[in-house]
Amino acid sequence: MDKKNINHIKQSKHKEKISMITAYDALMAHIFDGMVDIILVGDSLSMSFGGDRDTLGISLENMIYHTKAVCNGAKTSLVVCDMPFGSYIDKKQAIENATKIYKQTNADAVKIEGGSNRADIVQELTQNSIAVMGHIGLMPQFVRCEGGYKVKGKNDNERERLLKDAKAIEEAGAFCIVLEGVKTEVAKEISESLDIPTIGIGAGKYTDGQVLVWSDMLGFFDEFQPKFVKKYLDGAGLIKKAVKEYVEDIKSGRFPAAENSY
Ligand code: KIV
Repeated sequence: MDKKNINHIKQSKHKEKISMITAYDALMAHIFDGMVDIILVGDSLSMSFGGDRDTLGISLENMIYHTKAVCNGAKTSLVVCDMPFGSYIDKKQAIENATKIYKQTNADAVKIEGGSNRADIVQELTQNSIAVMGHIGLMPQFVRCEGGYKVKGKNDNERERLLKDAKAIEEAGAFCIVLEGVKTEVAKEISESLDIPTIGIGAGKYTDGQVLVWSDMLGFFDEFQPKFVKKYLDGAGLIKKAVKEYVEDIKSGRFPAAENSY
């Protein structure tokens, strides 16, 4: 199968829904590779892998380490690396840090959160040959300053703001945009108003693609399940069952058996 590039993703609009999943290591990336269009090394890494309460603490160095690992495992799917909180405050810093990501990993693109207020940064990156995925709506990097995770597009002001933000990010050169936590009808309107594809998470069924965090959709994170997550596997349950069996085998002397011994 040919390696996906950003043109394949752009051309999917109106043809085929785009599938995206997160991964943070080579092992999972290798399993997902070629099955999904895009693997996102999301800064959700800090929550789902690091156990943090939000995404703000992850460093650029950690994102680079995990993106390298994902690129080692993924040879076909497009790989996108989230630029972490505080790593794209202004154009100069953004270009320096995005360049580090491109030079030190094989990521195909970076993702940054923000609308019209970040359009100059998206433009700076794209004009310097760095492919950018936008991210608007509920932006997890804004959770502390907004006082929580809030669904967007609930009133006319928010709807207009989102439409403007999406347009600004498209005009700045992004190749697609994540719409997170956006009311279904507003996400539909945004998707119809853009030439580039939208990828939704908690944004209903009319976006041009969907993304979920792997540990949520495969049931490895079992503390709570947000409404927008569909659980495709009871990962935690399956692992607990297998580990219980392993421990019982050790205690009873069933493991290692002759076939596991030299
Ligand atoms: O960090 C992440 O995993 C994300 C997705 C939820 C879109 O940004």
